[in-house]
Amino acid sequence: GKVYDYLVVGSGLYGAVFAREMENAGKRCLVLEKRPHVGGNIYTEETDGIHVHKYGAHIFHTSDVAVWNYVKNYAPFNNFINSPIAVYKDELYNLPFNMNTFSKLWGVRTPAEAKAKIAEQIADLNITEPQNLEEQALSLVGTDVYEKLIKGYTEKQWGRDCKDLPAFIIKRLPLRFTYNNNYFNDKYQGIPVGGYTQIIENLLDGIDVKTNTDFFKYKKKYKNFKKVVFTGMIDEYFDYKLGHLEYRTVRFETERVEEESYQGNAVVNYTDREVPYTRIIEHKYFEPEKEAAQPKEYTIISKEYSTEWKPGMEPYYPVNDEKNSKLYEAYQELAGKEKNVIFGGRLGQYKYYDMDKVIAAALAEAKKELKK
Ligand code: FDA
Repeated sequence: GKVYDYLVVGSGLYGAVFAREMENAGKRCLVLEKRPHVGGNIYTEETDGIHVHKYGAHIFHTSDVAVWNYVKNYAPFNNFINSPIAVYKDELYNLPFNMNTFSKLWGVRTPAEAKAKIAEQIADLNITEPQNLEEQALSLVGTDVYEKLIKGYTEKQWGRDCKDLPAFIIKRLPLRFTYNNNYFNDKYQGIPVGGYTQIIENLLDGIDVKTNTDFFKYKKKYKNFKKVVFTGMIDEYFDYKLGHLEYRTVRFETERVEEESYQGNAVVNYTDREVPYTRIIEHKYFEPEKEAAQPKEYTIISKEYSTEWKPGMEPYYPVNDEKNSKLYEAYQELAGKEKNVIFGGRLGQYKYYDMDKVIAAALAEAKKELKK
């Protein structure tokens, strides 16, 4: 068969960017993807003009102008601004915590009034050395913000009481003393009009790709290449011989609702513990400029349930505690000895990577390779 310079395992953002850069420089790549489709976790699927984020809501945000310009070559972006809503029992608040939130909570109007209210609540608590996440959060934001907007949500995310979680999980809780509901602080933000999958398809244009092809099953078949770029799970690569790295995961329940609009916003967080899901995503609101072309009779929503991860489930968020960090370091040492293999992306590097950071990392790695 054909001889390739690189065998790229995984058609997520990392693998696709790396392969594109190499092909542009005249190197040949073969991309293997075990799922039936390309795109990794940014994959979106279209139904009647609604692009459903199949592996969780993805909002592109970055302060890196080079990455922003790069990604815009592969899809047109809208000017979506993430402004989530929090529902606590029958109350409704703006996120992130800002003057709109504080004014709804206490009827305050000025930043000075809001700051005084928070300071007063913190002082009343008398917490000198926070012993757990609850005390840590209380000492940062006071009682009301904690009880209504943090406690239940965090407990659902971790499946445990805030009193039983370590204080270090929360270092900072940003409070914003302006009337600004933009969740992210980054300079650039948006959603690709027409979904995310086109970014990957355009990156992989003209490159050989095999879907439904697990590297571990076909290792022997595909051997005409000089180097491997592996973006799957690093512990799986080594057959879990040092043990399993742990993840947190989310279960998505996607449903069609026979109404034009379910919640009027892309993201709504449910912050009380009694509601079993953490968030509801309403996909049509990621592309508001396409409203006229979207169905009027129905909408598509996804409920997100935070779930304990077990081997075999989708690995979403690495658990960066001491135990797992140590285990990852041990795998990294093995990786260092593996000749002609690059470990990249969020699974290959066991790292929580936003999309912009993944693009930057793949571009840097490609540049490094081309210098050799
Ligand atoms: P990714 O996991 O996408 O790709 C790896 C690919 O390798 C997969 O397609 C997999 O099937 C394949 N593969 C694995 N093993 C294989 C094997 N043995 N053989 C063949 N193929 C194999 N970021 C952001 O900027 N804004 C956001 O809003 C969000 N939201 C978000 C929500 C959720 C729930 C998650 C989990 C993540 C986000 N992210 C995000 C992060 C974003 O998803 C992430 O940055 C990129 O998808 C990472 O791309 P990778 O290529 O590294 O991995």
